[in-house]
Amino acid sequence: MSGIGIHDLSVATGHHVLDLALMAEHLGIDPAKYHVGIGQDEMSIPAPDEDVVTMAAAAALPILERHGTDGIRTVLFATESGIDQSKSAGLFVHQLLELPSACRVLELKQACYSATAGIQLATGLVQRHPEERVLVIASDVARYALGSSGEPTQGAGAVAMLIGADPAILEVESVTGVHATDVDDFWRPNDHDTALVDGRLSITAYLTSLRGAWDDFRAHGGVGLEDIDHVCYHQPFSKMAVKAHAQLGRHAGTPTSAEDLEIPARYNRRIGNSYSASLYLALAALLDSDQDLAGRRIGFFSYGSGSVGEFFTARVAAGYRSSLRPGSVPAALDARAPLDFAAYRDLHVAAAPGSSTDRATESVTNGPFRFAGVRGAVRRYEPTR
Ligand code: COA
Repeated sequence: MSGIGIHDLSVATGHHVLDLALMAEHLGIDPAKYHVGIGQDEMSIPAPDEDVVTMAAAAALPILERHGTDGIRTVLFATESGIDQSKSAGLFVHQLLELPSACRVLELKQACYSATAGIQLATGLVQRHPEERVLVIASDVARYALGSSGEPTQGAGAVAMLIGADPAILEVESVTGVHATDVDDFWRPNDHDTALVDGRLSITAYLTSLRGAWDDFRAHGGVGLEDIDHVCYHQPFSKMAVKAHAQLGRHAGTPTSAEDLEIPARYNRRIGNSYSASLYLALAALLDSDQDLAGRRIGFFSYGSGSVGEFFTARVAAGYRSSLRPGSVPAALDARAPLDFAAYRDLHVAAAPGSSTDRATESVTNGPFRFAGVRGAVRRYEPTR
């Protein structure tokens, strides 16, 4: 076995898009605050018949079409915005994708961090059973209250990853650095459908976690920053990665440049925050760029408020390009249906998840699966084609 890591990776997002210039205009804010100050241009908004399940299944479908379901005995569904307090959102995906019944399925939660836990858990499972593959899916709808400072940092997206031995895209290296501390920077009480956030505290908590995870990474034998070719960061807004990269450079004593982050921010700037998927959207944008990354080492900083951070590295496989889907993400982003500001706000009010009141949703999504509504207090999903 030559390593364990990401064998395939695929992205999905919501049906709609809101241009943040429209939000700036309606709220009387200088658009440069969004485009430059927080580094965001657009945000994806799910249609009424989309949620974390439909986006997750849409992200995973191309992977299964390419590789089949053989050997998949574990599905790890990472999300902050789960649709049930008890049942894993992964079980709905498992059914939609017709995955084998010989499968363990569970949901992982720790704000925006949990997909990274999923990858680490998956590498352990594959280490023991190299013939097995693990489907890790990060899927989130980032929702903040209307009129709150977090409103321009919403978004929606999913990244599905197939973890296995002898990976075609990335080999995850074994050294990781971790950091945990109890901090009230972002949270969502059980009866809230929008997150609560102390934005300024979330920035300092993120940077504290980065330094802590980096120190732990180095203490466990991790390479120096000079031996890492690119770094991908969790991006609640892309400017956060710029702040983090500068901080890491100062902390590690190796100069960094904000330009390093322009390519990894390409998808995030247009999708907005996608919580658990955000870090892996940065990876997708980097892999899809024109640069030849074969043999390069990528560093990852994963952060989930509350808070847990992890720094780890991975090596890009030779021939990785033949496993990508060139142009598919920009095409999906360009195909989103634009909303005007009033329509966006109406959707936001109508989309409060978690209701057990029976209802049918209108058919809007162009995706392969839809949330059909609630019947008998159960959420119902169906293929669209
Ligand atoms: N042109 C350019 N930049 C501008 C500007 C303008 N006209 N007006 C403001 N800015 C800059 C500010 O200087 C600031 O930059 P800095 O952070 O480098 O100092 C940035 O834009 C944001 O301005 P600020 O006044 O701090 O914005 P805010 O109070 O509206 O809050 C966030 C911004 C990002 C903190 C807020 O949107 C938020 O909390 N989002 C959620 C974050 C989150 O999810 N955290 C948890 C996960 S880590």
